[in-house]
Amino acid sequence: MSGLVRFGISLEKRLLEDFDRLIARKKYSNRSEAIRDLIRDSFVKEEWDKGEEVAGAISIVYDHHKRELMDVIVDIQHEYHDMIVASQHAHLDHHNCLEVVIVKGKSNKIRELSDKLRAVKGVKHGALSITTLGKEF
Ligand code: NI
Repeated sequence: MSGLVRFGISLEKRLLEDFDRLIARKKYSNRSEAIRDLIRDSFVKEEWDKGEEVAGAISIVYDHHKRELMDVIVDIQHEYHDMIVASQHAHLDHHNCLEVVIVKGKSNKIRELSDKLRAVKGVKHGALSITTLGKEF
């Protein structure tokens, strides 16, 4: 890694102990890697808050027997076709489908699409996973 800089951090003992337990649970091999990820997470959140170009994945679970529900979900996706990179449909069991929509674009538009899909009557669960286009870091 180029331009690596070392710096010290002062923390309350209790907070550091809690942090060490947290990073052990999350399988980090050392504090530096954990802190780097926390910093990157903050930058990703900031990109989203500032309405920048970002990427994400919207997951929804629904009952495919409700045909009108599928029509609504497809209609909404066509409305936002310019920001949908790909979508994957998986049949979880006899009734339930999981659809994951990979999106790229302005964060506010992605949130809008995610909100619309999650709010469709009959969608059992929806989640938006936010990430970055990766250009900044
Ligand atoms: Ni299905």
